[in-house]
Amino acid sequence: MDAELVGAQQTLSPVLRAKALDNRLPDPILGDKYAEQAMRRLDPDYDTGRFGTSQMGLVAVVRAKAHDDWARTFLDDHPDAVVLHLGCGLDARVYRVDPPPTVAWYDLDYPSVIKLRQQFLPPREHYTLISSSVTDLSWLDQVPRDRPVLIIAEGLVPYLTESDLRRLLTHAVEAFPTGQIQLDTVAVWAWRTSKWHPTLRKYGTQFHCGFDNPATIADWHPRLTYVDEAPMNDSPLLMTKAPANVRRMYRALNLLPGMKRSTRIIRFRF
Ligand SMILES: C[S@@+](CC[C@H](N)C(=O)[O-])C[C@H]1O[C@@H](n2cnc3c(N)ncnc32)[C@H](O)[C@@H]1O
Repeated sequence: MDAELVGAQQTLSPVLRAKALDNRLPDPILGDKYAEQAMRRLDPDYDTGRFGTSQMGLVAVVRAKAHDDWARTFLDDHPDAVVLHLGCGLDARVYRVDPPPTVAWYDLDYPSVIKLRQQFLPPREHYTLISSSVTDLSWLDQVPRDRPVLIIAEGLVPYLTESDLRRLLTHAVEAFPTGQIQLDTVAVWAWRTSKWHPTLRKYGTQFHCGFDNPATIADWHPRLTYVDEAPMNDSPLLMTKAPANVRRMYRALNLLPGMKRSTRIIRFRF
């Protein structure tokens, strides 16, 4: 792990690792060659050790695929859109989705993460990096506001407080004429117990919000409407593409109360 990443910034690593390992499956879910390259740069030994090539993290790849598919559909309908990919980490979504040149795509994360992106991932046209905390809303001044917006927050929301998330989303709805917001949340129990979560403990961080019914986020602004949810822990994609041991583990985990909906991938429009 790069010494410059601290706290929640380090959580980009297990997600990137899952995407890198997916690319080795005979029939990958994302097939993201950039994930493999960036992960090797971030941690050259990432696939060594007893669980070095375990596909147990594949559910994060399912989440990424759901966000990609929603993004493609929105951009097909709105080729003039502005994309705000918030808490982007080292995710290569802009290369996977490969939007037309009419789309203006912005990837935002903390300055130390953006510095790594500049080293590990190639630049491209109509694509801008923003080095900022998402909660310092002055970054919105860098973005054109007269076009439809697609806001993607994958794996970000649990690291924000509910009041910061509310401020961010209501500001965004006020700032743009129309748009789609796609994000994922954790359940209240997962938030409340996150200080004991082994990975989060290792990185010295924890979740700061959780939702048992994330559709109610739409109540925060009269123009915001809940659209739908994509499956994650019980996703048919996971059950088809994952190796047998991973499928067995998720089938068993999903029998535990609260587990199937411990993370929710949801989308809103305005
Ligand atoms: C679990 S990682 C997800 C990374 C990426 N979205 C992905 O799915 O591969 C969480 C990311 O959110 C970023 N993050 C957390 N809080 C943030 C904040 N206040 N402002 C900007 N980025 C933030 C972290 O730096 C990290 O890159």
